[in-house]
Amino acid sequence: MTCAGAAAARSLWRLRAGNQRPLSACGRRIGVRFRSSGTTLDGISRAAVDRIIRVDHAGEYGANRIYAGQMAVLGRTSVGPVIQKMWDQEKDHLKKFNELMVAFRVRPTVLLPFWNVVGFALGAGTALLGKEGAMACTVAVEESIAHHYNNQIRTLVEEDPAKYGELLQVIRKFRDEELEHHDLGLEHDAERVGPAFPCACRLRAKVSGPRKVNLNMAARGKKGARSL
Ligand SMILES: [Fe+2]
Ligand SMILES: [Fe+2]
Repeated sequence: MTCAGAAAARSLWRLRAGNQRPLSACGRRIGVRFRSSGTTLDGISRAAVDRIIRVDHAGEYGANRIYAGQMAVLGRTSVGPVIQKMWDQEKDHLKKFNELMVAFRVRPTVLLPFWNVVGFALGAGTALLGKEGAMACTVAVEESIAHHYNNQIRTLVEEDPAKYGELLQVIRKFRDEELEHHDLGLEHDAERVGPAFPCACRLRAKVSGPRKVNLNMAARGKKGARSL
């Protein structure tokens, strides 16, 4: 097994009901993980975990592309380091969900190539409105994703917090960091979009909409992508 495979398998094992036994035969354990009923041997819902990992991976992927677009325009300005700091955290978020996708054998959304382009265009486009436009975009996106993470946390806690211990820990950590990004956006004049940028005044409403559509489509995977 490769190092990446072993790391992913360790992530999987840690997610399972707090079992502290060492992972001595990772591959075999993953192989017997799911019953045909769609639940794991530990009773974890395959469908719920699939949905959460797929949608969160898509969301983090999109966030990375947005920050990439913003950095392409504003990277050498005074807010460059602020955007870079947020982007670095988004890279960590995406890396974690990449690992979880491997561990749980979850398919990514088929819309990744589309969001690759749209995310970058959204980031660069709002950055072209100036620092305030970029930060307004950040506030809208981060508010939306934090709200989404909160819904997932509620779902998992209602289901069984002990079963989903590490997944909850991951989502809570990322939710807190998204809220930090949201606050950073406000601290850097997200709400000071002036009359010269009328489009930016309505960014929160406009950005939140497509982002929610993105998350919903990603959650449904191929089937959802076709139906929308
Ligand atoms: Fe993130
Ligand atoms: Fe973020």
